[in-house]
Amino acid sequence: MKFNRKDLVSIRDLTKEEIEFILEQAQSFKEINERVIKKVPTLRGKTVVTCFYEPSTRTRLSFEVAAKRLSADTLNFSASTSSVKKGETFLDTLKNIEALKSDVVIIRHPASGATKFASKILKASVVNAGDGINEHPTQALLDAFTILEKKGRIKGLNIIIAGDILHSRVARSNIFLLTKLGANVKVYAPPMMMPRDIEKTGVKIVKDFRDEIKEADVVMMLRVQLERQNKALFPSIREYAKFFGFKKEYLENLKNDAIIMHPGPMNRGVEISSEVADSDKSVILEQVENGIAVRMAILYLLIGSGGES
Ligand code: CP
Repeated sequence: MKFNRKDLVSIRDLTKEEIEFILEQAQSFKEINERVIKKVPTLRGKTVVTCFYEPSTRTRLSFEVAAKRLSADTLNFSASTSSVKKGETFLDTLKNIEALKSDVVIIRHPASGATKFASKILKASVVNAGDGINEHPTQALLDAFTILEKKGRIKGLNIIIAGDILHSRVARSNIFLLTKLGANVKVYAPPMMMPRDIEKTGVKIVKDFRDEIKEADVVMMLRVQLERQNKALFPSIREYAKFFGFKKEYLENLKNDAIIMHPGPMNRGVEISSEVADSDKSVILEQVENGIAVRMAILYLLIGSGGES
């Protein structure tokens, strides 16, 4: 299998075989993360830049750790502390980052399509670390890796994605990925947070969350993205938690081997209660850990020799 892409900007663009190849590669990088000395020379001499126009904890840190474990040099750009504050454009910023001889630029941006735009401008590889409400491909890949680790397969699993589907790039990337790999994906959201025509993506809509989770192998909760809503889409946080949150009393409905996921950051007590987030069915911190191996694989395939294996 060859991975011939310059960029990773969306799951929608990838074939099932490419997704499976990335996940296979990530498995060997997971082994490196379990060593005492967690470092290999794979990307020595390469420069990896994280270029973030929005806040991040997990994605940014795990890309940085992934690059360092592969011996790449790393640079961090934050719009909030840069010359963007003096009026520099996105395009000029990208050209300046490229002038530093960057090999890969990992971009998070509030505008959907920003990373696609960057990928057409830059000779360097571009990775989408989340663009507006469009996609967050590396999150979906690490989620799939975690599901595979826990369940041994994705095909045929019953997976419910619940919460603010409309504003969630994580939901979009996961829907594309999980349906391509043959999962039965269902979605649950307040009516105002459910995208029109969502069923055309191959998912079914859940009406009764508490009842439907009885059949679920995976329940993936999503953050309510208040920062992306230009008007209130539900009456209050309390009502959202009451009618759409995953409450502790729902845990008894789950199958023994079901797992609970959340991409983070969590709004505890809103879309997920602390008892659920910290329960023995939660794999939320394992998702974070697996993000390193998946991002090491992506960097290797884009700018290492992984694309030629
Ligand atoms: N899951 C995720 O993208 O988290 P951050 O916003 O902290 O990167």
